[in-house]
Amino acid sequence: MGLQLVFIGTIALCLVVSSAVLERFEQALKQDGSLSFLVIGDWGRKGAYNQSKVAFQMGVIGQQLDIDFVISTGDNFYDSGLTGIDDPDFDTASSLQKQWYSVLGNHDYRGNVEAQLSPVLTNLDKRWLCLRSFICLFTFFVSEVAEFFFVDTTPFVDKYFIEPKDHVYDWSGILPRKQYISNLLKDVDLALQQSNAKWKIVVGHHTIRSAGVHGNTDELVKQLLPILEANNIDLYINGHDHCLQHISSFDSAIQFLTCGGGSKAWRGVVNWWKPEEMKFYYDGQGVMSVKVTETEIDIVFYDVYGHVLHKWNTSKQLHASW
Ligand SMILES: *[C@@H]1O[C@H](CO)[C@@H](O)[C@H](O)[C@H]1NC(C)=O
Ligand SMILES: *[C@@H]1O[C@H](CO)[C@@H](O)[C@H](O)[C@H]1NC(C)=O
Repeated sequence: MGLQLVFIGTIALCLVVSSAVLERFEQALKQDGSLSFLVIGDWGRKGAYNQSKVAFQMGVIGQQLDIDFVISTGDNFYDSGLTGIDDPDFDTASSLQKQWYSVLGNHDYRGNVEAQLSPVLTNLDKRWLCLRSFICLFTFFVSEVAEFFFVDTTPFVDKYFIEPKDHVYDWSGILPRKQYISNLLKDVDLALQQSNAKWKIVVGHHTIRSAGVHGNTDELVKQLLPILEANNIDLYINGHDHCLQHISSFDSAIQFLTCGGGSKAWRGVVNWWKPEEMKFYYDGQGVMSVKVTETEIDIVFYDVYGHVLHKWNTSKQLHASW
């Protein structure tokens, strides 16, 4: 009898866990064992505020690096338009005819979220993949090289719920909020724990560490960061602050990379940050490229002219030290 109860309890637990598992996509690395991608954020202004210049340079850099995909850190549509990658420069560059992986930003939540997430957009443009939270694993033969964890960060931010006076948010699909957040955190934690990938990269719209006008997002620092630290992730990539920025953590190996310079920038606000952690801050527009191999990660930030603004790299042994 006692045994049966435990058994039933286990089944119930399994059901809860499996129903919450994040959708996961798998892809192979290029034949040379590398993976390259570009990151853009806070764009979707139909070419305005240098967005077209950024798009043009993305085409050029994308060609040079033979990129495999593009990541968008959110705020993909500042107007109500839902046509996505409709800037002609995104269309004419052959190097950008790749998969685009995107998270939602806070501005995206002010529109019709379901429409942005719907397969209709993907049908309009096959490159476009935007889900609330999901995982992409990149393999090289049997080796799991890089795993990306895309996290929906907007629902974490209290002020969008407490004083939504000026804006209307579409919270359909995420209420009750407490449960949504706690399930998401559990899912991300579990997925990170189970990951065998050499490099673990987390992507969200909101900042965790930033000297920009929005600064650190306290809710993420309290709730998400401990999970990222406990699971030894390598990079946290975000948008939200309209700048390009690289902060190295002194408490962990995490590199905090802000790519929010997709269109409107030059805010003129840079808050003080510990110089030993602040590797790079640029108030203007631009884009970031990342190249990943089994042993190395190379990061480069570019301005609207394609000039290199900042470079950083790190390496890991091919096999675990034991
Ligand atoms: C476009 O980029 C140039 C070069 O960084 C900058 O001087 C200019 O202010 C930018 N324009 C806008 C509208 O942000
Ligand atoms: C960074 O790249 C340079 C040039 O390829 C290389 O000499 C150096 O060893 C790399 N550093 C790390 C930490 O991987």
